[in-house]
Amino acid sequence: MSSLLAEKKILFGITGSIAIYKTVDWIRSLVKEEAQVKVVMTEAATRFVTGLTFAALSGNRVYESMFDPLDQELIPHINLAREADLILIAPATAQTIARLAHGLAEDLLSAIVLASRAKIMICPTMNSQMYNHPATKQNLATLKKYGYTVIEPESGLMACGEEGPGRLPEWPMVHKKILESFTPQDLRDKSILITAGPTHEPIDPVRFLGNRSSGKMGYALAATASRRGADVTLVSGPVNLAPLPGVKTIQVKTAREMHHEVLNCFNDADIVIKAAAVADFRPEIEADQKIKKSDSATSLNLIPNPDILFELGQLRKTRKKPLVLVGFAAESDNHLEEGRRKLKEKNLDLLAINDIMAADSGFDVDTNRITLLSRNGGEEELPLLSKEETAMRIWDQVVKL
Ligand code: C5P
Repeated sequence: MSSLLAEKKILFGITGSIAIYKTVDWIRSLVKEEAQVKVVMTEAATRFVTGLTFAALSGNRVYESMFDPLDQELIPHINLAREADLILIAPATAQTIARLAHGLAEDLLSAIVLASRAKIMICPTMNSQMYNHPATKQNLATLKKYGYTVIEPESGLMACGEEGPGRLPEWPMVHKKILESFTPQDLRDKSILITAGPTHEPIDPVRFLGNRSSGKMGYALAATASRRGADVTLVSGPVNLAPLPGVKTIQVKTAREMHHEVLNCFNDADIVIKAAAVADFRPEIEADQKIKKSDSATSLNLIPNPDILFELGQLRKTRKKPLVLVGFAAESDNHLEEGRRKLKEKNLDLLAINDIMAADSGFDVDTNRITLLSRNGGEEELPLLSKEETAMRIWDQVVKL
């Protein structure tokens, strides 16, 4: 399965900040995703780490000077500027930011930026006083005006001992911005509500009824929608997945909690995708105390949970704002027939059916094989894909709707 960054030419500019040590891992991640990474270091950066580290990780020579007597390459700043798809400068010091804002070209990195038509992404990293200084603020505003993406630094304890904004952001956030820069923003300004994961229906303080949903499909939908520019709210049941940067996540446990949160967000949403495996039933009584082995109870009385998706399908009938409503169905037999019935019964625009009997699709695996049924009779059988690619194909259909 191909990576979005495969063959992308990323020029990684590194400037003189102690946060350099974090970027060592970033370069490794980019190379793992098959990006072609070339590193340019400012003179100050070479005082912290030698180019050898980055050369070994990127598999390419590291550029440190515009005037390298041993350099066989002609006008390196022009060649590097021309070939790059993306220039990422991280960490970016106040000095480099000032140089870029003023169009200076006295070192290799700033000359490359001036000569390039590539997308440019900057991670300002410095002491909080320096970051908050009006000169830096002004310089960053200028860079934004040039169309550069400025990734806001994080706040917290800094290497200099002070606390405040100026820390290099964590990789998941920067990684997301990089992917975003290579993705069409066709969901921009759309408000999207997604549910993911299982629900846990308590039996007593230590036991619950659950299911095998890992939440991977819903999280892939949330990550890719956010990457395509949407404003995403994720209502997530209990899962073991890392939080998604830039996605507002509301954690719930039970179907009733999910029901409550989904109804709360429903009016604002333009698109709702219900990828959660909501428990259809819950124990009628939740015992206050742990049920003892010796207790004679051997049966559990179950009562139905609200069908959230069904309810949304009813609510849309009186809603003024347009809505795209998408459901998932996990089926073990008669997929298409069952799917058509559900699409109609729940008043949906699109239904993704997965065959839970296939080993490579459905619960707790990284791949999925789904069939998409649409309200207008459309039927698209997707091949075996990663959950992320499956999510992208679902968004393609939603965008058409
Ligand atoms: O009818 P079935 O449970 O197969 O439908 C699955 C779809 O309905 C999924 O999109 C799921 O998130 C949603 N659902 C729901 N509330 C329930 C049960 C299912 O929203 N109680």
